Amino acid sequence: MRIITIVNQKGGTGKTTTAINLGVALANKGKRVLLIDFDPQTSLTYSLGIKDANPTIADVMLNGKTRLINTLTPTQEGPQVVPGSLTLADVELSLSTKIGRENILKNRLDGLEGFDFVFIDSPPSLSMLTVNALNVSHEVLIPLQMEILSLQGLSQLLNTIVEVKEILNKGLKIAGIIPSMFDNRRNLSKEILQTLKTNTKEKIFNTVIRECVKIAEAPSFAKSVLSYAPASNGAVDFIDLAEEFLKGR
Ligand SMILES: Nc1ncnc2c1ncn2[C@@H]1O[C@H](COP(=O)(O)OP(=O)(O)OP(=O)(O)O)[C@@H](O)[C@H]1O
Ligand SMILES: [Mg+2]
Repeated sequence: MRIITIVNQKGGTGKTTTAINLGVALANKGKRVLLIDFDPQTSLTYSLGIKDANPTIADVMLNGKTRLINTLTPTQEGPQVVPGSLTLADVELSLSTKIGRENILKNRLDGLEGFDFVFIDSPPSLSMLTVNALNVSHEVLIPLQMEILSLQGLSQLLNTIVEVKEILNKGLKIAGIIPSMFDNRRNLSKEILQTLKTNTKEKIFNTVIRECVKIAEAPSFAKSVLSYAPASNGAVDFIDLAEEFLKGR
């Protein structure tokens, strides 16, 4: 079992989209996948059509009585989900005064043995929630838009990952950077990808996730792009990404 946080403190870089569609692509290959919605925005929970979830990951974080295993929610798309909640914003606040605040999620993980991959969808900040997620993870995946400001944000993110490695979680690995919302028609996307390749020693996936309107439409139907538009670029890209992700494991 591998726990992988999908992280980028910048908003709207494709974290939730990656969690869902990479998760579904892996589930379609027979992998047992769990998605944890660790963002108070609850986009992942909503995008998979889960409503009024109770209990959620916020209950697990707020009290030791609710077990993670009791929050597992099946979906039609394949992966199971630990639903998120707006209350995660309160969790974030309460963590600021808690002793051992980096370790709360770590102390409350249970029942994950049956999964091959657990993906944690994190909020767009380097908050205590994100640190809790990084602390329990074996790996991180970084979806990155091909824009100049994203490159700037990347060095800050890599610094945080180094700090977490030094202080909390020695084994944390960067599984790779995923170029997201790639626009083939714009030279800028290609130029930035080139700059990124020359300036970082981290793995950059060969698979790029192209801009594809079907990806943005799918959540309205509580579906992944793989089942909503199986022939679309988006579906093809996430299947390719799943294959590249599995290579060498
Ligand atoms: N390849 C793509 N092509 C077109 N639209 C996309 C693509 N990837 C993501 N989107 C859309 O862009 C928006 C942001 O994506 P997403 O929610 O996955 O980002 P995020 O990093 O999780 O955002 P946040 O930081 O707010 O959690 C969503 O509306 C999503 O449907
Ligand atoms: Mg998100």
